[in-house]
Amino acid sequence: MTENISVLLDEKRVFKPSKDFVNQTNVKQWMDQHNIKTYDDLLKKAEDWKWFWGEMAKDVVEFYTPYKQVIEWNEPFAKWFTGAKYNIVHDAIDKHVTTWRKNKVAIIFEGEPGDVRKLTYNDLYIQVNKLANALKELGIKKGDRVGIYLPMIPELPIAMLACAKIGAIHSVVFSGFSATAFRDRANDCEVKLVITCDSFYRRGKKVPLKTQADDACKETPSVKNMIVYQRTGDQVNWTAGRDHWWHEITKDKPSTCPTEQLDANDNLYFLYTSGTTGKPKGIIHAHAGYAVGIAQTLKWVFDIKDQDVYWCAADIGWVTGHSYIAYAPFILGATQIIYEGAPDWPNPDRWWDIIEKYGVSVFYTSPTSVRLFMRHGEDWPKKHDLTSLRLLGSVGEPINPEAWIWYYKNIGGERCQIMDTWWQTETGHFVISPLPITPIKPGSATKPLPGMAAAVYDDKGIQVKDGGGSLVLMHPWPGMLRGIYKNPERYKETYWGRFKGVYLAGDVARVDADGYFWIQGRADDVLKISGHRIGNSEVESALVSHPLVAEAAVIGKPHEEKGESITSFVVLKKGVEPTEALKKELRDHVAKEMGKLARPDEIWFVTDVPKTRSGKIMRRVIRAKALGQEVGDTSTLANPESVDEIGKAK
Ligand code: PRX
Repeated sequence: MTENISVLLDEKRVFKPSKDFVNQTNVKQWMDQHNIKTYDDLLKKAEDWKWFWGEMAKDVVEFYTPYKQVIEWNEPFAKWFTGAKYNIVHDAIDKHVTTWRKNKVAIIFEGEPGDVRKLTYNDLYIQVNKLANALKELGIKKGDRVGIYLPMIPELPIAMLACAKIGAIHSVVFSGFSATAFRDRANDCEVKLVITCDSFYRRGKKVPLKTQADDACKETPSVKNMIVYQRTGDQVNWTAGRDHWWHEITKDKPSTCPTEQLDANDNLYFLYTSGTTGKPKGIIHAHAGYAVGIAQTLKWVFDIKDQDVYWCAADIGWVTGHSYIAYAPFILGATQIIYEGAPDWPNPDRWWDIIEKYGVSVFYTSPTSVRLFMRHGEDWPKKHDLTSLRLLGSVGEPINPEAWIWYYKNIGGERCQIMDTWWQTETGHFVISPLPITPIKPGSATKPLPGMAAAVYDDKGIQVKDGGGSLVLMHPWPGMLRGIYKNPERYKETYWGRFKGVYLAGDVARVDADGYFWIQGRADDVLKISGHRIGNSEVESALVSHPLVAEAAVIGKPHEEKGESITSFVVLKKGVEPTEALKKELRDHVAKEMGKLARPDEIWFVTDVPKTRSGKIMRRVIRAKALGQEVGDTSTLANPESVDEIGKAK
């Protein structure tokens, strides 16, 4: 599907999709209907973004009652499709059961031990309705918060859809996060009910999720009920009156349940993500604008058609899985894969086996996973027939050209375009990304999608035409966050306070003379570990919560596979002996407090960490020193001598 294969290794070259391929794409079809000839013409036409999103809404969603205005923009607060009655579940599930898709497979689930389940749209409809009826019986109403702590099993999207159906707001917490992390998030939004499972499979072992949920709920006074799905059949502790088995509570419930006709701007979910403080922010997403944004971008970028088998290998616990597993594929009536376990379990060809077995045609993963498979070597994918693939995707962190090329050759068979999609928890959907018709430069997410606008600003807020700076978005977009839960001020300041009238993404980016964007990484104190967002200060708080730790500073170091690794400088309390055993204890402590993902790779004991006179830890200085780079101006430091000690920590 891509020409110029012989020049692959020269990353400055542009890969143009072939005409045959372009002619069959959803986006080209729309362009033909609107008499638009080229990619550039399409971008130009969509500069009238209010018109564009109105058109897109017609194409991908069905309102109960029509909207009056595409957007009401009281900067920085947006309302999309105002006046409409809407519920995302109508588009994701209800509308399909009145069409031929009723018996189309919606989910092909493969558990880590190899168990397989296929659920049709009608199966989903029934399961969602039964659970929604159970939630109602337990007193859950519109606007109530439900905490979902489930692994990658079909019951996770079913639980989310059941909440949305009755207008409840879900707050999903990644199953790899610890009990403490779950507790803090559940408390922040005062969850009334928790949905979890007994345990699940990961790398041949069982993870006791119910036990973790129980631990968390010792300190969540708002939680009144817990619904427990039986995944493994493991013994669990039971709190009578609070706990209910999923299969028991849904058994006799009706298989129909009216979908709540909500205001288009009612809240759909909160998803906590890391920022620069020790406390994650509850990002708010609402029904209608979000639905339009995610469905349209999936339809155009991954060109989803009825015959596709789509697989987004992210976890639903993160935004990628919210938007592009739990909601958008269903809105488009797609068939998708959900896989429970680890990518390289029991062997590094587990994913390639799944692609071959189910004939996956569109596959979406992260650069970290690509690098993991690169390390295992190309013999593993070679064992499998991957010719069903026609499009590939990448998300979460910059993809280095070396990984891009490996992915392109060994997985895509030099046929498949790679959609490098830049977006965030906050944006809700892809913002900067190629379409299948876009000429691609490996390592660049290319240009803002139609109906969206981005730019690079220098420190003074002047737009940079060919160079680097801060990435900003120039106008609202349908899936944008509606705020930070309980913190509108932080929303205003963080995203809309730095430069007038534009959204600050928090990334450093470069734009080239062709208007292509090259995302370089976070500009703020947020780490990207295997594409997952973790705040430096969250890890610091976890370290300081250990009784022997006085202070901690955390930085990210470049890491070949994970993108970044976590390095911590720890000041122990007076008289505490700095031992190797204590280092291990501290690493385990962070894993227990936050989840294994946040376990520091390195811990160094120091007597002091560089700080300003006002006590702010100077991570910029620490990072430069630890990486052997130029430290720059240290005149604002209260304790410049501490910098040398950082340099010795090798
Ligand atoms: O730094 C950017 C990086 O991931 C951040 C958003 O993280 P999160 O909210 O967890 O969402 C991840 C999945 C959408 C961004 O600020 N990022 C995301 N996609 C890319 C990327 N960096 C480079 N290229 C990408 N394609």
